[in-house]
Amino acid sequence: MRLSGKSALITGSARGIGRAFAEAYTREGATVAIGDINIAAAEKAAGEIGPRAHPVHLDVADQASIDRAVKAVEARTGGLDILVNNAALFDAAPVVEITRASYERLFSINVAGTLFMLQAAAKSMIARGKGGKIINMASQAGRRGEALVAVYCATKAAVISLTQSAGLDLIKHGINVNAIAPGVVDGEHWDGVDALFAKYENRKPGEKKKLVGEAVPFGRMGTPADLTGMAIFLASAEADYVVAQTYNVDGGNWMS
Ligand SMILES: NC(=O)c1ccc[n+]([C@@H]2O[C@H](COP(=O)([O-])OP(=O)(O)OC[C@H]3O[C@@H](n4cnc5c(N)ncnc54)[C@H](O)[C@@H]3O)[C@@H](O)[C@H]2O)c1
Repeated sequence: MRLSGKSALITGSARGIGRAFAEAYTREGATVAIGDINIAAAEKAAGEIGPRAHPVHLDVADQASIDRAVKAVEARTGGLDILVNNAALFDAAPVVEITRASYERLFSINVAGTLFMLQAAAKSMIARGKGGKIINMASQAGRRGEALVAVYCATKAAVISLTQSAGLDLIKHGINVNAIAPGVVDGEHWDGVDALFAKYENRKPGEKKKLVGEAVPFGRMGTPADLTGMAIFLASAEADYVVAQTYNVDGGNWMS
């Protein structure tokens, strides 16, 4: 087991990719806090994953909630070793229809949420003096703009940039900051994305999802399980010399 005895906090892990990471980390021996704004779903997920998973109410857009969640993890496990900044929102609209409310919501969760969650975790890790691992969820959307997805793409480009700066700043404390850039990953999140494309590209429900899956060089959409290998690696001692990087795990969609 590669994460034996480690304490992890995964934001937005009541469902989807975060939940798959929580399952994978507990299998590798970690204790995992399922941090989510939907506490009922977090409690249910933790109950299903098993005794090494526990729910923590967390709104990454709220500093007091971030601080409480980190304290709760410290109190339960003695300290935080691994943070996965996974919580994020998606939205789509033509540029001339983007609302300030959507912009502010996405930036407060996807960017400020990532930065201030990372900051709180780093403070905790520095005070403890044992280093740590921080993994940010970026996206292929952060590598290249998309006509209908300006705001989400900008938030994910910001996550890649924050990963670089924080990675360079925190490695002197033994804290590795890296990111994963998935491509298109099936799940409830993509059902919402598909509905937005159906509206703006005048498509039938499910059509966009089918098209993006067929366009992946690997031949299908990703699943959360396709990402867990990279998530375990980046959280483990095997990644000690990996600093400030963003890894594409996307079936071949993007090369950089
Ligand atoms: N699914 C994809 O195709 C895809 C592709 C590239 C990148 N990603 C990224 O991977 C990550 C996970 O994606 P997913 O598809 O599993 O998402 P998802 O929408 O299925 O899950 C997101 C979770 O975050 C929680 N959440 C929302 N707002 C929150 C807040 N303010 N504080 C705490 N939790 C909050 C939700 O309750 C939910 O449980 C995201 O960062 C996403 O941008 C996803």
